[in-house]
Amino acid sequence: MEKYKADERRYDAMAYQRCGRSGVLLPKVSLGFWHNFGAEDDYTKCREIMRYAFDHGITHFDLANNYGPPYGSAEETFGRLMDDDFRPYRDEMFIATKAGYDMWPGPYGNWGSRKYLMASLDQSLHRMRLNYVDLFYSHRYDPHTPLEETLQALVDIVRSGKTLYVGISRWPLEATRFAFKYLRERDVPCLIYQGRINLLDRAPLEEGILDLCRSEGVGFISFSPLAQGLLTDRYLNGIPEGSRMSKGKFLRPDMLTDDVLQKIRQYNSEAEGENRTLAEYALSWILRQPGVTSVLVGASSAGQLEKNLRAASK
Ligand SMILES: NC(=O)c1ccc[n+]([C@@H]2O[C@H](COP(=O)([O-])OP(=O)(O)OC[C@H]3O[C@@H](n4cnc5c(N)ncnc54)[C@H](OP(=O)(O)O)[C@@H]3O)[C@@H](O)[C@H]2O)c1
Repeated sequence: MEKYKADERRYDAMAYQRCGRSGVLLPKVSLGFWHNFGAEDDYTKCREIMRYAFDHGITHFDLANNYGPPYGSAEETFGRLMDDDFRPYRDEMFIATKAGYDMWPGPYGNWGSRKYLMASLDQSLHRMRLNYVDLFYSHRYDPHTPLEETLQALVDIVRSGKTLYVGISRWPLEATRFAFKYLRERDVPCLIYQGRINLLDRAPLEEGILDLCRSEGVGFISFSPLAQGLLTDRYLNGIPEGSRMSKGKFLRPDMLTDDVLQKIRQYNSEAEGENRTLAEYALSWILRQPGVTSVLVGASSAGQLEKNLRAASK
């Protein structure tokens, strides 16, 4: 591939929103590396998606230690992208990773201990070929580790300079309230909460997580905003070859129930009524919820990203 030079007009169309009560602005659409960036994926395609994203104002990239497959390989792909194309743009990027799910064998490679979080971030930085990340998350709530241990590890990681900000993902309401207070009292305020809100799953809205984030000045980023592709035209007429559902691991055909199909057809006709695609309609709905900072999409091609970015223009 030819040497990369970022598009000079990359900031012309994207809208940015302040992340809670912080100094950080995030693009309305951010890009996730859960799927499509593992060792089994075509590197040239990864590079095309990443270039397209950055050329169109996406500055926020979301990873986790175990994204792949195999585990760790999405971070390795990211490191290669940094070396091949993005090193000159490091200060224009807001890069996140996480630890919390199973990553390596034995008692220290999972959940929320200080031992796991600290070692995991060191490994992530090595794979991503970075000196620091912008954001490090506790990827999930651990009911067995004292919350103080997990949270103090986050505080100490910030103090070590290996991350600039911290966040939490998928924590339940009361533990989230505790986390926000604990972190704020140590002058390491939680930057952002990562949870799933989309037209088919409104749990963090209904449980009060989004309201809490708003009142505490913490940003909110919605993962799987397209319900892994269900909220696009992908499955309106069956399960296409090569789609995430056709691979059947995280999005299984039995999830496309008659009820879901009826809902997505209904949303699709509402979208058509507004002259929009279903994806655009679904993303715009999330972005309208007060307190939502960004939607964190996945994409298996630059073309999908192009369509999804229509929801985010200024
Ligand atoms: N914190 C957590 O626990 C957690 C959990 C899950 C995800 N995440 C984060 O959220 C990110 C996004 O999650 P996600 O990939 O599930 O998001 P998503 O945006 O809901 O789904 C993305 C998938 O939908 C399909 N798609 C996207 N745009 C399309 C379009 N315009 N037309 C047709 N199909 C389209 C593609 O699947 P095909 O393969 O079918 O093309 C794409 O890979 C992840 O990468 C990760 O960073 C975090």
